[in-house]
Amino acid sequence: MEVRPYNLAMHTDCLVIEGLAGKKSLKGTVQINGAKNAVLKAMAASVLFSDEMVIANAPDTEDVKKLAHLLRLAGAEVAVDAAKKEIRINASTITSTDLDHETTKAMRGSVMLTGPLLARFGKVSFNVPGGCVIGARPIDLYVDAYKKLGAKVSVSGDHYSIDGALSGAEVFFALQTVGGTETMMMAAVLAKGMTVLKNCAMEPEIVSLAEFLVQCGAKISGIGTPTMTIYGGGLLKAGGKKYHTIPDRIEAGSFLLLGALCADDLLIEQCNPLHLESVTSALRNAGVALMIGKDSIHIKGNVKTKWADVSSFSVRTHEYPGFPTDLQPQMVAFLTHTTGEGIMFETIFEGRFKYVQDLVRMGAEITEMNPREVLVRGFGGEAVSGNTAGGQKMLLALGADEPLRAHDIRAGFAIVMAALAAKGTSVIQNAYYIDRGYERLEERLAALGATIRREK
Ligand code: EPZ
Repeated sequence: MEVRPYNLAMHTDCLVIEGLAGKKSLKGTVQINGAKNAVLKAMAASVLFSDEMVIANAPDTEDVKKLAHLLRLAGAEVAVDAAKKEIRINASTITSTDLDHETTKAMRGSVMLTGPLLARFGKVSFNVPGGCVIGARPIDLYVDAYKKLGAKVSVSGDHYSIDGALSGAEVFFALQTVGGTETMMMAAVLAKGMTVLKNCAMEPEIVSLAEFLVQCGAKISGIGTPTMTIYGGGLLKAGGKKYHTIPDRIEAGSFLLLGALCADDLLIEQCNPLHLESVTSALRNAGVALMIGKDSIHIKGNVKTKWADVSSFSVRTHEYPGFPTDLQPQMVAFLTHTTGEGIMFETIFEGRFKYVQDLVRMGAEITEMNPREVLVRGFGGEAVSGNTAGGQKMLLALGADEPLRAHDIRAGFAIVMAALAAKGTSVIQNAYYIDRGYERLEERLAALGATIRREK
């Protein structure tokens, strides 16, 4: 079947943003899409099914397009209907388990496909991206688990080939790896016998996928706890049941922090506030007024909240339900405006502060204590030398001749927040990264009153 080429080249789009000069003037409603970090795993899980698997409420992000491309290249039938937010995958037509090298190198998330492919077809080969801007991101925990499940792993450079019939085993993850937990859970669904996975990650995306697999015949217990037990069996059957992608808690948390920084009245709808308690409780403790509904979070009358009354605080990123590493840059951007000092401690990734240099260039007072810790001195109500702009303490845009960069998806969003809060016009390059995690961001921000446009 002819597979249309997918343009993997890095796009050169940039975003041009007029800052609000410290005013919290954004207003309006934003709807949250299905979670990027749920839909990718559900797409990988389609390989466990004998019949067509349908994913509903799917976001239309770059990574979804890339993974669909990768599955098509392997021979699966994949139909993506962005308008209906639906993806239909029939993996029974897969003929190759040698994953396209270009695509797997361009998207680390593809490594999750290896579990279902190995479990179903007895072999898989792929190239691993050398790591990305936030850290080395090795896959040693996957290799260790595959070996325990009875597979043979051979590596040459960044090329891995793994084969063998999988049989159940006990695996203790040295780190609570999200991808590792999902990949081995999926592999164990088809492995022979019982698999016990220990020190599992418990992210909501994992729980929602596991529950769907159980509805389709998988035998998984301990879902949402550190220990999962899986009894392997035959291929699963969707039988018309659809996987409904859960709301993207990272997108919701990103807009929540952007709202707390730049909005007077922002209603965030179609989200699950229970997945964001680490964020809402921190903001409330600091003095930000939030109304929390069943599937909404409302920042209202925020302009009355003076920065002098929003006290700084420290945050330590932690596996779920702790504060998510994927909201770390956005929280630091928020902390630059609070009153006092706060420390951000990044426990998950070793290289996730590259964006700080851009915030410092804009006038933020952030000191890197070590690769995992930064101290943020907020402008707050106090006079901070060098940042005065008409008496108001704020970030200062660097203008078109000193473009900012989106280092990764989440750092890109943090830079957008800073550019919105700043005085002057900012240009942010690598908007492609932002597109990987946030659909049509400039349209949604413009609808809230931001002056923002995309340029090639
Ligand atoms: C998932 O990545 C998310 N990606 C990441 O979101 C998220 O930051 C991360 O989980 C942590 O929450 C997707 O779900 C597609 P890990 P994953 O395995 O599964 C180390 C975003 O912006 N590790 O939990 O790759 C690893 O280096 C992205 O949406 C090993 O050392 O994360 C990291 O330091 C960014 N060896 C830590 O564990 C391994 O074999 C957590 O990684 C595997 C992981």
